[in-house]
Amino acid sequence: MSNPAASGLFLGAQGLHKTYRVGATEIPVLRGVSLDVRAGESVAVTGASGAGKSTLLHLLGGLDRPDRGTVRLEMKNLYDLSENARAEIRATRIGFVFQSYYLLPELDVLENVMLPAMSRFGAARAAGRLRRRAAELLDRVGLAARAPHRPAELSGGEQQRAALARALMNDPDLILADEPTGNLDSETGDQVLAHLFGLTRERGRTLVLVTHNDAVAGRCDRRLRLKDGCLA
Ligand SMILES: Nc1ncnc2c1ncn2[C@@H]1O[C@H](COP(=O)(O)OP(=O)(O)O)[C@@H](O)[C@H]1O
Ligand SMILES: [Mg+2]
Repeated sequence: MSNPAASGLFLGAQGLHKTYRVGATEIPVLRGVSLDVRAGESVAVTGASGAGKSTLLHLLGGLDRPDRGTVRLEMKNLYDLSENARAEIRATRIGFVFQSYYLLPELDVLENVMLPAMSRFGAARAAGRLRRRAAELLDRVGLAARAPHRPAELSGGEQQRAALARALMNDPDLILADEPTGNLDSETGDQVLAHLFGLTRERGRTLVLVTHNDAVAGRCDRRLRLKDGCLA
């Protein structure tokens, strides 16, 4: 399938520093992290627990703020933007998949998948079209029959596939996945990864995948290791 943005830099981080401060204690986590990810590429970020993988992913997705450094999506530095503009980019261009699925328990699976689009359009006007898109995504991840169920009625692997469908609801250019198979057994994790790679590659989407699992990392085009606050 053609990829309209297949050439050139897509996501770039330059000199990212991040230190957490808890009371009088300073926890330096990132000490000058730079990376470039091209459009359509899949990149794994590995590293020991506590190395700062989630911190980095949050910064790449505009969810936090670095002490120093820039994160550019195409040419825009996310952290030069207003909070509202950054929220808009998160909502429209970035899909997040986390280790914990964060599905809302009081909504059914279809409604959970629709949610990112509902908060954008708000209105009931587009609801029919959005329902069809959500249903189609659920079908793609093998959950068509589960649409009316509550998340609690699904297995972990099914919940993660629903969360993946939700992440793709707005057809984001960039998918950021943080240990998406971390709570799953390896067979179930493989199913989730097959969907994740299938759906992102077929549309030429860019993927940054955080994992401490070497086999998972090996499925990406490129892998980087976070150690002592730096990427190698
Ligand atoms: N909000 C926070 N406040 C204070 N310390 C934090 C916070 N988030 C993460 N940390 C600390 O920063 C380090 C890196 O965390 P994290 O980015 O979650 O690592 P990883 O995802 O690689 O396991 C850890 O030592 C963690 O305890
Ligand atoms: Mg983490």
